[in-house]
Amino acid sequence: MPKKSATAPADSTILRQFVARPREIGAVWRSSPALGVAMADAVRWPDKAAVVEAGAGDGAITEHLLAAKPPETPFLAVELNRMCAHELARRLPGIRIVVDDLANLCSICAREEVGEVGAVVATLPWSVVPEDKQTGMLEAILETLAPDGQLLFYIYIQALPFWRRSPFARRLHESFETIEHGSVVWKNVPPAVVFSCRGLRRAPGHTG
Ligand SMILES: C[S@@+](CC[C@H](N)C(=O)[O-])C[C@H]1O[C@@H](n2cnc3c(N)ncnc32)[C@H](O)[C@@H]1O
Repeated sequence: MPKKSATAPADSTILRQFVARPREIGAVWRSSPALGVAMADAVRWPDKAAVVEAGAGDGAITEHLLAAKPPETPFLAVELNRMCAHELARRLPGIRIVVDDLANLCSICAREEVGEVGAVVATLPWSVVPEDKQTGMLEAILETLAPDGQLLFYIYIQALPFWRRSPFARRLHESFETIEHGSVVWKNVPPAVVFSCRGLRRAPGHTG
């Protein structure tokens, strides 16, 4: 008889953690390969500046980012949930992971000596995160990104109408010159749209 694996199958980690922390996980299923490819295709890969993926979960998007990443580009995954981070490390051995809150991105990058951050791929459940937390995380991203940096994320289609009118979307429009989105990735549960923001507008007097 085959032995029982000590580790849960990859697909069950997000579901289990969703049951324990629904608003933090925000999804029942991990993202599909189709969404992973769409995210990786949307990244403008920097040569030297780092790429940070936040909310990496068990690595559904991460594996596609790593496959597309130029070899010299530093990569750091940030994940709040210890079980997800553990599964991520198991699935993608050697990956650099920090278990922490995206809201602490500035101090994480300083501590980890990441250097300039050229892109943040924030694969978090933005539409279910409480507003004050959204603001904290977005401000940390804006503070950390290089002036020519890029922010990417996805939004599930059922949340789009509300999300477009949210304070988060308003703050993005204030903060970036260009916000583009791809077509709906139907091969994902639920279907999702990838957004890419570029052309950071710094507040006058910002020294970062
Ligand atoms: C919807 S799941 C997505 C997982 C994976 N990126 C994917 O697309 O399958 C959201 C992930 O964001 C993580 N997360 C939620 N809030 C976070 C925060 N403040 N900082 C870092 N990660 C966070 C959750 O633990 C969860 O793993």
